[in-house]
Amino acid sequence: MRAPAAMVLGLTLAQAKKFEAQDPSQFVLPFTGSVNGGNTFPGISLPFGMVKLGPDLYTGSDSYSGYQSNGNFTGFSLLHESGTGGAPKYGVVGQLPVVGSIDNPLNDQGIGRSKADDARLGYYKSSLSNGITVELGAAGKAGLFQYQFPDDTDGTNVIVDVSHVLPSFRGQGLGQNYLGGNISVSKTDGGVRYQGSGSYDNGWNRAPKWTVHFCGYFDQPTTFKTFLGEDSTGNKLADYSDASEQDSDARLGAVFTFDSKNVTSRVGVSFISPKQACENVDREIPAGTSRVTLENNVKTAWNNQVLSKVTTTDFSNTTRLQLLYSSLYHMSIIPSNKTGENPLWSSSEPYYDDIFTFWDTLRCTTSLLHILQPVVYEEFIRSLVDIWRHDGFLPDARSSFFNGATQGGSNADNVLADAYVKGVRGAVNWDDAFSAMVTDAETVPPNNNDPRDKTASTKEGRGALPDWKDRGYITTKYKRSVSRAIEYAGNDFGLYQVAKGLGKDEEAQKYLNRSRNWRNQWNPDLEALGFKGFLGPIDEDGNFKDQDPLSCGGCYWGDDYYEALPIEYSFNAHHDINKLVELSGGKDKFIARLEKFFEGGVSSGNSQFNHTLFNPGNEPSFTTPYLFNYVGRQDLSVKHSRYVADSYYAPTPSGLPGNSDAGAMESWLLWSIIGLYPMTGQTTFLIGSPWFKDLTIDLGGGNKLQINTEGGGSQSYYVQSLKVNGKSWDKAWVTWEDVFAKGGTLDFVLGSEPADWATGDAPPSPATES
Ligand SMILES: *[C@@H]1O[C@H](CO)[C@@H](O)[C@H](O)[C@H]1NC(C)=O
Ligand SMILES: *[C@@H]1O[C@H](CO)[C@@H](O)[C@H](O)[C@H]1NC(C)=O
Ligand SMILES: *[C@@H]1O[C@H](CO)[C@@H](O)[C@H](O)[C@H]1NC(C)=O
Ligand SMILES: *[C@@H]1O[C@H](CO)[C@@H](O)[C@H](O)[C@H]1NC(C)=O
Ligand SMILES: *[C@@H]1O[C@H](CO)[C@@H](O)[C@H](O)[C@H]1NC(C)=O
Ligand SMILES: *[C@@H]1O[C@H](CO)[C@@H](O)[C@H](O)[C@H]1NC(C)=O
Ligand SMILES: *[C@@H]1O[C@H](CO)[C@@H](O)[C@H](O)[C@H]1NC(C)=O
Repeated sequence: MRAPAAMVLGLTLAQAKKFEAQDPSQFVLPFTGSVNGGNTFPGISLPFGMVKLGPDLYTGSDSYSGYQSNGNFTGFSLLHESGTGGAPKYGVVGQLPVVGSIDNPLNDQGIGRSKADDARLGYYKSSLSNGITVELGAAGKAGLFQYQFPDDTDGTNVIVDVSHVLPSFRGQGLGQNYLGGNISVSKTDGGVRYQGSGSYDNGWNRAPKWTVHFCGYFDQPTTFKTFLGEDSTGNKLADYSDASEQDSDARLGAVFTFDSKNVTSRVGVSFISPKQACENVDREIPAGTSRVTLENNVKTAWNNQVLSKVTTTDFSNTTRLQLLYSSLYHMSIIPSNKTGENPLWSSSEPYYDDIFTFWDTLRCTTSLLHILQPVVYEEFIRSLVDIWRHDGFLPDARSSFFNGATQGGSNADNVLADAYVKGVRGAVNWDDAFSAMVTDAETVPPNNNDPRDKTASTKEGRGALPDWKDRGYITTKYKRSVSRAIEYAGNDFGLYQVAKGLGKDEEAQKYLNRSRNWRNQWNPDLEALGFKGFLGPIDEDGNFKDQDPLSCGGCYWGDDYYEALPIEYSFNAHHDINKLVELSGGKDKFIARLEKFFEGGVSSGNSQFNHTLFNPGNEPSFTTPYLFNYVGRQDLSVKHSRYVADSYYAPTPSGLPGNSDAGAMESWLLWSIIGLYPMTGQTTFLIGSPWFKDLTIDLGGGNKLQINTEGGGSQSYYVQSLKVNGKSWDKAWVTWEDVFAKGGTLDFVLGSEPADWATGDAPPSPATES
């Protein structure tokens, strides 16, 4: 199986191995998941970099990452996010090259494409319909724009529009607004420098005003005019070098006009000051830096910091290599490391921003981040605790230095618990971390009056806490009551885990008890498809309300279930599975219910769910394919998880089953590739079926997890036998200690038919009374 791939690459196997070890970046396809709602960012970013430089396209629908494959360019800007939904964020600090004379720079000069954009890791190129070519390069806090204007044109200009921001067309009041700014221009040797600030609000997290500062250089002689929009001087170009309108949405910027047809600009950003923005660009992209140098730096950073963490010598299937490395890439773009750039407080702790969102990433992403990026992860955990110290609450999501939005529970609790039980210590202050979790569990967050749900906070914490604490369930007094209840139970289990570890026995007992309260939300009379008992809504008198287990109504902020069906949420008591199995009617019924979940053609009453009840593009469904491991049918976990991976994922622009959700989808796939599945907040990993003949995961500190398979193929993936650290294994799970704490080996034999190999103890169900 290896020879053909080596031949495709024109290399011997030994050469291919070496090539792979040196440059896995060749398998990163930046456009993977960028269209059809995947919303990944195809531009240039360092791993967890602050700057994400890419195009902004106008189509009349939301451009979440800035990019769309159609529409008109409105700019190329330095700040973006990747794989988000809700409403666009950022798309600021940009430039737009324009030919001809410019009467009014505020006419929103949308420019078409002459051909599709081109990208590889560290490189981005757009060919504009007006004949201009834009090539980009980036560093951590600065970017480079290289323009080539057509020879046969008069008037080569670059517009710097401080008011440029990604708009939203979703109509929920989430669209970003420009709130004021300033720009000033001064001559330098041979060129010009501009600096200033812009303020904006909103985006998916409903943020109040925040400010970014910028500092840009052009390397060619230029004339320039600043402009101010309607509110002040009318749409007017003026020959002065400063334009400033604080606290006014009068748009402003500058137009730079060049004789040269080749123009290069370097721009730095900072959230602290224009001066720091200048320092950032001067340090990272000094004058004369070539675009190629930046491309090589970015490629090297990704290879060293991210891609080389997972290696293989199995080149037999290029599609799989592209899935592996493109997924690692897209799960490592946000959160953004903004250490040293936090304008709100000074602290010796690290600062990470752009968390989208723990609701999405708590299962597969944060657990994998811990394994692949232990240094980033420890810093990230510390930054969460520091946010609590200064803002009062942990974030469930955060962007532009502001918490929100919280869709269900306070899921940072699960993330902290996962870090704690898997031994993340470093400089994390775990007493403070636990206090932060207790805030989530005990303090009702102030209502932020989100028009989507005015019943309680959507910003942070647990809005429906009064019911949860007083009644042990959540009534329809609160929106999203049922999905919140199952999530609050998981959050409380997180508190139990950390309290237990810190020797706080009383708290441990209390939160373990509370983590079982999802059972109070279980309505034994709800029925669907021959199965009885589902999580159901409860009215304010404490009575169960009728509910179709296959419908979530609008499935949104104002409904009883958020973005997933009752049947989907009714598989989510992951800390209390044995009880869940019992309430579902026992093992056989549970297996049958799971099987039904994956059957095609079951109509659910919600048009988006027609295909199967299982929704591959939705996080509350993520763990469900693996739950067969709890009831003695590991083969069915493999069957269904492989089916999902093979049917819904491809290394193509439309190759994700849904919104990437900041890499949540990609990390689900990565666990499938690895052949394990993490039970967040517990040390348990469920066994799946690895994709490659061999996979080596660098765990840091000289430790490695080595995963080997024999007998695998595209139709041969059922586990026949397994050895863990050289010993025969009959359990459908391993623990953190078994293979991750100090490394280890997993040796699989795979075959085309199921085998009854996992006859040992079932995985633990820690919240279930024995
Ligand atoms: C793109 O620009 C062209 C030319 O100005 C215009 O005709 C077209 O409507 C624009 N498309 C969008 C989606 O705005
Ligand atoms: C520009 O705006 C920033 C942010 O509002 C402000 O701090 C700064 O003083 C302004 N500079 C000028 C020259 O107006
Ligand atoms: C402009 O850049 C292009 C592409 O890099 C190059 O071929 C051309 O020679 C440059 N022109 C000038 C005048 O430097
Ligand atoms: C995060 O950024 C800070 C400041 O640039 C840097 O010192 C730190 O090493 C970064 N963290 C990682 C894991 O790279
Ligand atoms: C556990 O919860 C039950 C009811 O929810 C309550 O009666 C009991 O006192 C709790 N036990 C502890 C130790 O908190
Ligand atoms: C889903 O089913 C509903 C009702 O049967 C139907 O109206 C709708 O068109 C279907 N949607 C899809 C995407 O197949
Ligand atoms: C390569 O991998 C892809 C994705 O898993 C799979 O669909 C395809 O069948 C594989 N090709 C071969 C030749 O095994």
